[in-house]
Amino acid sequence: MPRVAYVNGQYVAFHQAAVHVEDRGYQFADGVYEVIAFRRRQPIDEAAHLDRLQRSLAELSIKPPMARRALQLVIRRLLARNRIDDGILYLQVTRGVARRDHGFPNAGTPPSLVMTVRRSRPVPPATMAAGVAVITIPDMRWKRPDIKAIGLLPNVLGKEAARQAGAYEAWMVDAEGHVTEGTSTNAWIVTRSGELVTSPADHSILDGVTRRTVLRLATAAGLTVRERHFSVVEAKAAAEAFLTSTTSYVLAVVSIDGAPVGDGRPGRVALQLRHAYEAGVAA
Ligand code: PDD
Repeated sequence: MPRVAYVNGQYVAFHQAAVHVEDRGYQFADGVYEVIAFRRRQPIDEAAHLDRLQRSLAELSIKPPMARRALQLVIRRLLARNRIDDGILYLQVTRGVARRDHGFPNAGTPPSLVMTVRRSRPVPPATMAAGVAVITIPDMRWKRPDIKAIGLLPNVLGKEAARQAGAYEAWMVDAEGHVTEGTSTNAWIVTRSGELVTSPADHSILDGVTRRTVLRLATAAGLTVRERHFSVVEAKAAAEAFLTSTTSYVLAVVSIDGAPVGDGRPGRVALQLRHAYEAGVAA
């Protein structure tokens, strides 16, 4: 079954899907995106993703390409046409196609909307069981990573640095020595006194949809949860660490910059939250 993409109002064969060379996403990274997982062709946490999309668009004064109900309809049609049961939907909106000029184009310029779907490539069970390594790198992004913008060069370079180091992810560290988040995941630790800690959703991180779900699950499970900044030093001395995202779910981190976290194995809290998260997704 050939894959189908959605490009500006048309469902097209994936290998022919294309945007104009003067699309502002291509030339200026002037756009935003969402990555939504789906199971049995049902989007997971769709409302939260569409809320965040709406917020990202509003922060950048990009017009929504269509009403929310229409967008939901296109998502469903695309999932139906692709006949993939479990996978990932990528959705991107840019400020549209216009003669290259840094300032905004004419108010009448329609935003571009592109969506693609692919089968999920779940984290292998062996990786899940063993946990993953992270490295730390300086956070050199712009000061608004709370907006899910498509300009991801520091994230791209960070992820590649992690791969080169044999690690799964790079945790970004700000000028104060605080871990903000991973290049495509949120970062968490469990302190030796049992506090579950993740960065507050201020302007310094992307407020992950998975992050929010896990915060809810942790609170419901009676864990002590703190949204506060934490340092690399604190992370390295933590009892446990893990990361969260739409594609990784809850994944234990067992080493930071080559040094084991806790006893070097996935921690109890990480496993508990992973199971709780997976149960929610399955339901
Ligand atoms: N990444 N932080 C960053 C910088 C991210 O890019 C992401 C998501 C997250 C986790 O957010 P969520 O739980 O909503 O997926 C945190 C997506 C998956 C990506 O770029 O592929």
